[in-house]
Amino acid sequence: MYYGSRIIVALDPPDGVNVIDWCLNIVRETRDLVAGYKIGLPLVVRLNSMEDLSILSKAMDGDRLKIVDLKLADIGNIMVSAVKPFIHHGFNYFIAHSFIGCRDGLDVLNSFLRENNAWLITVVSMSHRGSVEAMDDVVEKLLEISVNTGAWGVVAPATRPEIIRFVRKHIGSRAKILSPGIGPQGARPGDALMAGADYEIIGRMITRSSDPRHVVEEINKIHESPLREG
Ligand code: XMP
Repeated sequence: MYYGSRIIVALDPPDGVNVIDWCLNIVRETRDLVAGYKIGLPLVVRLNSMEDLSILSKAMDGDRLKIVDLKLADIGNIMVSAVKPFIHHGFNYFIAHSFIGCRDGLDVLNSFLRENNAWLITVVSMSHRGSVEAMDDVVEKLLEISVNTGAWGVVAPATRPEIIRFVRKHIGSRAKILSPGIGPQGARPGDALMAGADYEIIGRMITRSSDPRHVVEEINKIHESPLREG
C-alpha cells in the first residue's frame, strides 16, 4: 500500500466506452497509488443507473477522497438535493462554486455535508484562460467566502502557480488546495505542489495513457522530490 500520494485522478471517460467498466479498470490499476478520484458530469450523464456509483465507490477503497465535481452553483436546498444521492452511494467530497456566496447558499450545503461526514470544496479560480476574465479579479473575495463557509478545500489552477501562491498565503492551513490543469492544459506534474497546493487533480495524462499505473508511479516520484525539498 502506497501512502502519501498527492494525486487525485479525474475519471472523465472518453466517447464510446462503457463508462463504469472504464472507470473500474483505472481504479483497480491505480487505487493503491493515489489519494483519490474525482467524478463529474462527463461520467454522471452517461450512467445507466445511479446504483453503479456504489460499485465504483466501493472499488475506490474506504480512505480515498471520493470527489463529485458538479461545480454546484445554486441555492442551498437545491444543492443539497443534488448531493444526497452521491452521499448515499459513498461519495464524500463535493465541489461547488464560491461566487454564489455563503448565506442561504454554501452555508446550507456545508452544514448538510458536515452532518453526513462529507466535505465541501469550493472553486476560487479556474485552470482555463477564461478565468482571468472575471474570477481572478475577485479571488480574494472568493477565498473569504470559502473560509467563512468553512470549506475543507479550494480549487486553484496548476496553470497559474502565482494564484496558488496567493491562495496559500491568504488561507494558510485553513483549507486544502486542489489543483487541476496538468498535462493537456499545460502545467507539469509537481508545479502546483511546488507553489503550495496539497493535491494535483490529473485526468487525461493518466487515464488516456496505455499504462495508467506506470504514469501514476512516475508522477508520484516527481511529487516526492519537491515535497522532500519542501
Ligand atoms: P485533465 O484531463 O485536463 O482534467 O487533467 C482536469 C479535470 O479537472 C477539472 N477541472 C477543474 N475543476 N476547477 C475545477 O473545479 C477548475 O478550474 C478545473 N479545471 C479543470 C475538469 O473538469 C477535469 O475533470
